[in-house]
Amino acid sequence: MQAKCLAIANRKGGCGKTSAATSLATEIGSEGKRVLVIDCDEQCSISQRMLADPLEKGEFTLYDVLFNKAPMGEAIFQAAKQFPNCYIMPSSPRLKPDDHSFNSALSRETLIKRVVDAARKNFDLIILDSPPAMSIITTAVLTAADYFLIPLGFDISSLEGVEPVLNEAKKIEAAKLGKPKYLGAFCTQYGQSRLLATKDFDQLAAEVSGLLDKFHIPASSNWKQAEMRNTTLQDSRSHPISKGYQKLTKYIAKEIHL
Ligand SMILES: Nc1ncnc2c1ncn2[C@@H]1O[C@H](COP(=O)(O)OP(=O)(O)OP(=O)(O)O)[C@@H](O)[C@H]1O
Ligand SMILES: [Mg+2]
Repeated sequence: MQAKCLAIANRKGGCGKTSAATSLATEIGSEGKRVLVIDCDEQCSISQRMLADPLEKGEFTLYDVLFNKAPMGEAIFQAAKQFPNCYIMPSSPRLKPDDHSFNSALSRETLIKRVVDAARKNFDLIILDSPPAMSIITTAVLTAADYFLIPLGFDISSLEGVEPVLNEAKKIEAAKLGKPKYLGAFCTQYGQSRLLATKDFDQLAAEVSGLLDKFHIPASSNWKQAEMRNTTLQDSRSHPISKGYQKLTKYIAKEIHL
C-alpha cells in the first residue's frame, strides 16, 4: 500500500472544505479503501465530525506528532462507524501559524509532508483538511500533497481564494519542496446566495482556472442539520448533495488512479 495524498484547500472560510473532505473520505472508505484524514486546521472541525468519541486528556493529535515526539500510530484513531474504513489524525487548537514550536521548527514547509510520507504505507488515500488562510500551515499542507482540490462557496471571496492557493502550489514546485497537482475547483453550495445571481456567479467562476462546473454540489438547507445530527451521506444516497459527491468522487478517484 502506498497512499496518494489529496489536500482540500481554499483561502476562504466556510466554503465547504471540511464537508468535501468528509464526503470524499466517506465515499472512498465505503468502497473498501483505507482512508486517513489528517486534520490540519486548528478549528478541529473534521476531528469533531469524524472521531467516534471526544479525545480524552493526554490523547495525541497531529500537533503532538509534529512537536512532542508522539508515536504517529497513537495519534491515528478509527473514525466513527458511519465512516467505514476511515481513520482520523485529529488537530489541536495549538496548531497555529504563530505557535512557537511551529515557528522555531526547522524546514517548517515539510513538517506535514514528513508525517504523510510515514503514514503512506498503511493507507490507500490520505486526505488533508486545511485551515481557511494562506499561512505556513497551508503551505505545509500543499507541500505534503500529491494532489489538491479547491472547494468554492457560492460567493466572490471563494473565487478570489483560488489564485493564492494556485500561486502557493507553484512556489512550492519552483522551490522543489513538493509537486502538488491541481485537480480543479467546484462549488459546494451552488445556488445558495441572495446576494449573487446564479448567472453572475457562473460568469465570474468561468474565469477560475480548472473549474469543474459539471461537479458543482447543490446547496441544501437540510445539510447543516444533517451534519449536526452527525448523519452522513451513507444515510441518504439519493440526496442531491450525496449524489453530487458520489459523482465527484468517481472523477477524483480516476484522476488520481486510486
Ligand atoms: N452543499 C451544501 N449546502 C448547504 N450547506 C452546506 C453545504 N456544504 C457545506 N455546507 C455548510 O457550510 C458550512 C461550512 O462548511 P464547511 O465547514 O465544510 O466549510 P469549511 O470551508 O471547512 O469552513 P472553515 O473554513 O471554517 O474550515 C457548514 O455549516 C456546512 O454544513
Ligand atoms: Mg473546515
